[in-house]
Amino acid sequence: MTKLIGEQTVLVTGANAGIGRATATELARRGARVLMACRDGARGTEARAALMADVPGARTELLVADLSSGAGVRSLAAQTLQHTDRLDVLVNNAGVFTRKYTPTAAGLETQFAVNHLAPFLLTNLLRDLLVKSAPARVVTVSSEAHKRGQIRFDDLQGAQNYSGMKAYSQSKLANLLFNRELARRFGGTGVTANALHPGVIATQLLLTGFAPIRLLRPFLKTPDAGARTSVFLAVAPAVERLTGLYFVDFEPARPSQAARDDGAARRLWRISAELSGMNPEENS
Ligand SMILES: NC(=O)c1ccc[n+]([C@@H]2O[C@H](COP(=O)([O-])OP(=O)(O)OC[C@H]3O[C@@H](n4cnc5c(N)ncnc54)[C@H](OP(=O)(O)O)[C@@H]3O)[C@@H](O)[C@H]2O)c1
Repeated sequence: MTKLIGEQTVLVTGANAGIGRATATELARRGARVLMACRDGARGTEARAALMADVPGARTELLVADLSSGAGVRSLAAQTLQHTDRLDVLVNNAGVFTRKYTPTAAGLETQFAVNHLAPFLLTNLLRDLLVKSAPARVVTVSSEAHKRGQIRFDDLQGAQNYSGMKAYSQSKLANLLFNRELARRFGGTGVTANALHPGVIATQLLLTGFAPIRLLRPFLKTPDAGARTSVFLAVAPAVERLTGLYFVDFEPARPSQAARDDGAARRLWRISAELSGMNPEENS
């Protein structure tokens, strides 16, 4: 049975900027209680105030965590559990593009850590809460950039041969392999998992990361437009039974062959579990 949106609690990562901010705002406008996960307290406070001004009476709470470390992700999961005893929708949106090789404190490559490992670990840590709240949904923001990606199992962190674009594309392909394996593992629980490409959207990530695209700025779509497919997957009754899919412009789309490789999805899951300090067989 479709839940009323006013009864739903959603968690949006990267909610202070770009597509995540627009997603949080639209879900709040429709009446959901929105937990806004932001890296920086001051930026998060500013974004929440702006959302409240846009949507008077919105039900929002700010959670602060840096998702580049396992400790940050665990802190966000713990804060979520403190704030709510139900989670109807998790939107894994936070993402980053880093042109130069940037290791995290734990020695992982930043795009791999933030774009892939963080949603992997966060979703697993919130799994019981999602299942308890079923029907529930996990929405993961990937990209058409995944089509240029490959999972370099021999050099996952790009330590040997780094290219910002290759690492970004790999992380977005990893989002789709994660989504595929997640949907399989959620089978029979009432929790669905779907991923999406938001469009080519004028945000910090695109405009500071992909330099030539600055020239295309007048042709880019707005963050509000970029949030539409995320919001659709989060709440539309039309997709309540669909899972394991990749959406572009509200429609299921065929991802690259590499994104449909079940063996790679399982292998990446095992490696990601080890890197996150999780039992690889947990939730199998
Ligand atoms: N823009 C596009 O054309 C496009 C296309 C395809 C896919 N995407 C995907 O869309 C998603 C949203 O990106 P966007 O375009 O909206 O970019 P954005 O405006 O730069 O927003 C990215 C969000 O992620 C957060 N974030 C980055 N690193 C973080 C960390 N270590 N810990 C916690 N939060 C962190 C940022 O927080 P701060 O403000 O603190 O940095 C910000 O809130 C990403 O997953 C991206 O890959 C975007």
